[in-house]
Parts: sequence; C-alpha cells; structure tokens
Amino acid sequence: MRKGTKILLLGTENRYLIKYRKEKFHTKDGAIDLAKIKKFGDKVPSANGPVFTAVEPTLFDLMKKFKRGPQIILPKDAGLIIAETGIGEGSKVIDAGTGTGWMATFLSKVVGSKGKVVTYEKSKINHKLAKQNFDDIGLKNVRAKHGDAYVDIKEKNFDVMILDLAEPWNVSTMKKNIKTGGYIVAYLPQISQVQEYVSFCEKNEFIIERIIELQEREWSVKGRISRPKSHSIGHTAFLIFSRIL
Ligand SMILES: C[S@@+](CC[C@H](N)C(=O)[O-])C[C@H]1O[C@@H](n2cnc3c(N)ncnc32)[C@H](O)[C@@H]1O
Repeated sequence: MRKGTKILLLGTENRYLIKYRKEKFHTKDGAIDLAKIKKFGDKVPSANGPVFTAVEPTLFDLMKKFKRGPQIILPKDAGLIIAETGIGEGSKVIDAGTGTGWMATFLSKVVGSKGKVVTYEKSKINHKLAKQNFDDIGLKNVRAKHGDAYVDIKEKNFDVMILDLAEPWNVSTMKKNIKTGGYIVAYLPQISQVQEYVSFCEKNEFIIERIIELQEREWSVKGRISRPKSHSIGHTAFLIFSRIL
C-alpha cells in the first residue's frame, strides 16, 4: 500500500477514512496498526477488539469528509436531477452556486473525462472552500469559477444548468448558456420561489416538465426493532425541471 493512499476502514459499528502510513492510528475502538494493511480487502483488528476491513473509498465516502460550507444538495435530489435530465458520460453541465461543491462532485463522476462541469460561486470564501474540496479528491473535470451567476456565465450551448440560487430567474444569460431543448433545473426551498420561477418560465416560453418535492424516509432494522428513524431528512427543496425552446 502506497503512503498517502486513501483507505476506508470499515467496521460493523464505526468507520474511519484515513491516508495510509505505516503507523498506528488511534480511534475510539483503540489503536489500529496500519502497517498490517498490504492491500484493499485486508482485515485489521483494533486494540479494543473490533475488526476493520480496508476498502477503497467511494466518491461519496470522500465527499462526506468535505469541509462544509452552505447547505448541500443531498443524494436523493442530486440523483433525481441526473436521471430526469439524462446527464451522462460526455454531458456539459453548468452548476451554480458551488457552495460546498456536492452537486458539482456528483456531476463530475457522471459526466466522466469526456464531459465538463463548470460551477460558479459568488462568495470568495465558498469558492476557495469548494476548490480545496475538489483538489483534495483530485477532480479533473470540474472548473470552479469565482463569479456572479446572474451575470457572469460565459459557457454556450451546454446541456443542463442546475441553479441552487435564491433567484434563478435573474440568471440573465440562460438562453445562450443552454442548447435548445436543454434543461434548467431550479432547486428552491420555498414554494413562493417556485411560483416566481414558474411565471418567469411562462413569460419566456420555457417548458415546465415537472415540479417535484422528493421525500426520503430512512429505516432502522435491528433485531425486533423495525421502524422509520426518528431523525429523518425533512423538506429540502422543490425541483423544477424546465426546458428551453
Ligand atoms: C446552497 S449553496 C449551494 C450548494 C451546492 N449546490 C452544493 O451541493 O454543495 C448556494 C451557494 O450559492 C452562492 N451564491 C449566491 N448567489 C450567487 C450568485 N449570484 N452567483 C454565484 N453564486 C451565488 C452562495 O454563496 C452559496 O455558496
């Protein structure tokens, strides 16, 4: 195992994301001797007993360790955006605002090396934070731009635009940025914002394909306990799928 390789130590109760080095790693399960790991799949005991399996972290494992800025787009909503708009290998996608960079990172994986993700962020602090998150996991196909998405988006004829912004109707360049038939997805927490976005679409003759709120309910199943978790995700946002003609 090479020094610096990211490894997820996966136990039944706990998990730890580490960078490999030939040292002891101290955890609440006691010390784990990393020198015993030679390859992914190896099992190592911790001093207090629990055994951990060294696995290659997924992109999502890595994202969970991102430095957090503003509210992120969660997998339930990111997955729906990707599926509904047909984003795939080679797609060109604009994302704004970048925030913590979760949506841009999900997109990066899906569009692959032939695709492009350009993400805009107005706040210097959030732009820097997201860039650091992207660099930490070595993303190559995401271009993080520091700019105001309402006026600064330069890209032309992209396939999809995802707007996690308070006033998406203020993005003045949409028609140039997105190809005919391409999608603009507005991610809006408030129904009053949805109403304003819908009337913007009507004025501009954009088609509204769907307006969706997606609810997720996670369950606990352990022995005889089998019920929805008491702390589930509540409302995140409404997703408005619109298309430019
Ligand atoms: C809720 S966060 C985005 C989270 C992001 N979608 C994610 O999944 O991590 C909204 C971001 O938009 C940024 N923002 C607000 N107005 C903007 C504008 N006009 N242009 C670019 N970014 C803007 C904010 O600074 C904030 O970082």
